[in-house]
Amino acid sequence: MPDDVRPLGLIVGTGYEYLGPLEIVHREIVPTPWGEPSSPLVTVRLEGCDIVLLARHGFGHTLLPHLVNYRANVWALAHVGVSRLVALASVGSLDPACRPGTLAVPEQIVDYTHGRPTTFHEEADGLGAHVDFTEPYDGELRRALLAVAAREGLEIATTGVYGVTQGPRLETAAEIARLRRDGCTLVGMTGMPEAALARELGLAYATCAMIVNWAAGMAPEPIHEGIAAHLERATGEAVRLIRAFLRSAS
Ligand code: HPA
Repeated sequence: MPDDVRPLGLIVGTGYEYLGPLEIVHREIVPTPWGEPSSPLVTVRLEGCDIVLLARHGFGHTLLPHLVNYRANVWALAHVGVSRLVALASVGSLDPACRPGTLAVPEQIVDYTHGRPTTFHEEADGLGAHVDFTEPYDGELRRALLAVAAREGLEIATTGVYGVTQGPRLETAAEIARLRRDGCTLVGMTGMPEAALARELGLAYATCAMIVNWAAGMAPEPIHEGIAAHLERATGEAVRLIRAFLRSAS
């Protein structure tokens, strides 16, 4: 199937009501060799396009970031024919230029997670397991999202380094200072191994990061203060981006 007729996959956090009026076309529980995905796959029609939604934390937010079955999720989406995958993810900001309530499409990743199954390769198979991850995100998909964001006039960071931490606790101020020294501009808990698994299956993958707080030690106020309002604003912006992206594709 050519890529332009395959459905886009969209990984959301917990639900999809906030995407606005949409039509549910199909709902499917996809068994995988890696166990159960976090949620059924729900095909919805939005802005004239069919897209496949998966709720990373389960509908109802039952799965913490370190307990998500990333392999089952990515495998299930590939199995139903998704070839391009946009992942929504809440993050904190380490960059004074990236304000909570706005968006970012990161360009690079530093992975600080541990103990998560990170690959579909269980046995050595020559160079097969050593996928090229120099550019962890798909350049074309990133550029397409950013072009739409520019047309919509959205405040969005067009680059950035996503530091992926293990969670579920938030970081210490010293950990965030270290991430800054490493070049990270965003911090979240779900970007890996999701991105690497998508690469292993040949999916074009990009993250739309929703900035919901200043990372630990970056601002004087307590980290949870204002997070709900920032989340609401950033979610609204992400929905504008996704809907405009689908309109541009239909
Ligand atoms: N740290 C890690 N993950 C997050 C944060 C954070 O500050 N905000 C949202 N997800």
